[in-house]
Amino acid sequence: MVAVLQRDYAHIEARPFAPNLGAEIRGVDLSEPISDEQFADIHQAFLDYQVLMFKDQKEIPPERHIEFGKRFGTLHAHPAAPTMQGYPEIFEIHATKDSKVANGEFWHSDVSCDEEPPLGTMLQLHILPPCGGDTLFSNMYSAYDTLSDPLKSLVDGLSATHASEHIYKGRYSDRGKDDGEIDCPTAMHPVVRTHPETGKKALFVNRTFTTRINELSPTESNSILELLFEHCEHIDHQIRFRWSLHDMVFWDNRCCMHRAIWDYWPEERKGRRVTIKGDRPS
Ligand code: SIN
Repeated sequence: MVAVLQRDYAHIEARPFAPNLGAEIRGVDLSEPISDEQFADIHQAFLDYQVLMFKDQKEIPPERHIEFGKRFGTLHAHPAAPTMQGYPEIFEIHATKDSKVANGEFWHSDVSCDEEPPLGTMLQLHILPPCGGDTLFSNMYSAYDTLSDPLKSLVDGLSATHASEHIYKGRYSDRGKDDGEIDCPTAMHPVVRTHPETGKKALFVNRTFTTRINELSPTESNSILELLFEHCEHIDHQIRFRWSLHDMVFWDNRCCMHRAIWDYWPEERKGRRVTIKGDRPS
């Protein structure tokens, strides 16, 4: 069991969501500009808890959402997803009764197929189904820490291919994007990455994008990847977040994975996502 961190933040209220991951944040209104002191506390809480759930929020105007994202770095442009009209920085998450797929239905770290995958993602939901539509998150520090020593030594030296053609081709055609308009990046990343800000090690493979461990034979790669996926998705590392209207969740793609549950069809779920560019995993 991971010890719940107790840190005093002077300018926000942070309450641990669960012993293994996440914190609910109160005392900050993201529809208004935030102070440098609040930003410093939010940044520290993000590093401490990996997933921040901002509660009791109003609808955040798109400009403010973009501005908040930019405080953490340059924004990331999604290679394939539809954006909000007039706001190319905002990826609209939207599932309706006519959707063929919903976003993020399988475990992943956002766009890990990019050479420089996103640091973090900020999602606010504006339309919720009457029930369902939860998001699961999994802690990749604890996934790494709980591997046995022999497995740690094996994976520490390995790299993996993260591909996206099998995911993005045709994916957003029901939302007006054809394959001519999208990119399908592929990148190679270490299987274990060191978080650039905390210095902690995290497993960095996921069922959506990771297709191959480069140094192993195909049979070995398939078996080791399956073992790692199952380990990363183990319930011990997970939390399940139930959204309230206008909750804003900010997750760290460098040390956690997530999965959105599409159990609410034919109901609608809609939100806006701003993603911050990260660095090359090392
Ligand atoms: C995603 O960005 O992967 C979707 C998350 C969600 O809709 O809960």
